Amino acid sequence: MKGIVLAGGSGTRLYPLTHAVSKHVLPVYNKPMIYYPLSVLMLGGIREILVISTPSHIELFRALLGDGSRLGLSIEYAEQPRANGIAEAFIIGSSYIGNDPVALVLGDNIFHGPGLSALLHDQVKNVDGCVLFGYAVRDPERYGVGETGEQGRLISLEEKPSAPRSNLAITGLYLYDNDVVDIARNVRPSPRGELEITDVNRVYLQQGRARLVDLGRGFAWLDAGTHDALLQAGQYVQVLEERQGVRIACLEEIAFRMGFIDAAACYERGRQLQNSEYGTYLMAIAHADR
Ligand code: G1P
Repeated sequence: MKGIVLAGGSGTRLYPLTHAVSKHVLPVYNKPMIYYPLSVLMLGGIREILVISTPSHIELFRALLGDGSRLGLSIEYAEQPRANGIAEAFIIGSSYIGNDPVALVLGDNIFHGPGLSALLHDQVKNVDGCVLFGYAVRDPERYGVGETGEQGRLISLEEKPSAPRSNLAITGLYLYDNDVVDIARNVRPSPRGELEITDVNRVYLQQGRARLVDLGRGFAWLDAGTHDALLQAGQYVQVLEERQGVRIACLEEIAFRMGFIDAAACYERGRQLQNSEYGTYLMAIAHADR
C-alpha cells in the first residue's frame, strides 16, 4: 500500500504563525507537526510515501525528510498549487499510486493510542472499498461527521454539518482501494470550491463499501488547526513523554522497531543529533536493543 501525507493549504487560521512557514513544520512540543501523521503511516507498515504540499513549502519537507532512506522509507514529493481540496491528492498522486491501494493522512492530524500499530496493520490488509476512522468529539460540526446504525454500520456522512446527526468525527486518516483515483476524478467541487474527501467517501458509502472503525475512548485524536488545538497537542505530547520517558512519533525509533533500519543506523542517527535530547534518546534505544 502506498501512503500520502497531505500537507497543503495556507494555514490562514494560524496567521501570523504561518505567514512565512508551513503549518506542518510548526512544533508540536519537540517535533515538527508532520512527524506525527508520518509516524502513523509507518506504524501501518507503509514505506512508500508521497508528501504533497504547496509549491512554496515543498522544499521545506524535502529538507526535513529527504528521500526517506534515513528512515528506511522511500519518500517522494508533489505539489498542490491551489487549495482545491483533500480529494485532489489522489489526482495529483495518481501516477505515484499506480495500481496500488493507498492510505491518506492529513498533515495536521495527530493519532496516539494503545494498539495503533496492530489496528492499522489489520486494516491495511485487503482494503475493499474504504476504511474510515471515527472519533467522538464535543464539536462534530468542525469535521466530517458519520452516522452509524445497527452494529456500528455507517449510514450517512456529512461535511461540517450545522446540525450534526452524531458526535462521531471522521478523522484525517483514510484507507482506500485503487478505485479512489477514478472516484476523485469524478467528484465535483463543493460550494466552498473544494474536492471534498467526504464526497469521495460518500461514493463508497453508496456502493456499500465504506467501513468505519471507531477509535474509541482512551484514544487521542488531536488536530492542530487552531492556536488552542496546537498548544493542547503540544501539551499532550509533553505530558506523556515526561511521565513515561518515551517519545511519541520519534520517526527513527519507529523505523528501528518496525525493522526498516537496524540498531546501528538508529545509533548513528542519534550520534549525529547528540546535542539534542532527541539524539541521546535514539542512541539509548539503539543501545538497549543491541
Ligand atoms: C478535513 C475534512 C474533514 C475531516 C477533517 C479531519 O477538514 O474535510 O472531513 O473531519 O479534515 O481533520 P478540514 O481540515 O478541511 O477543515
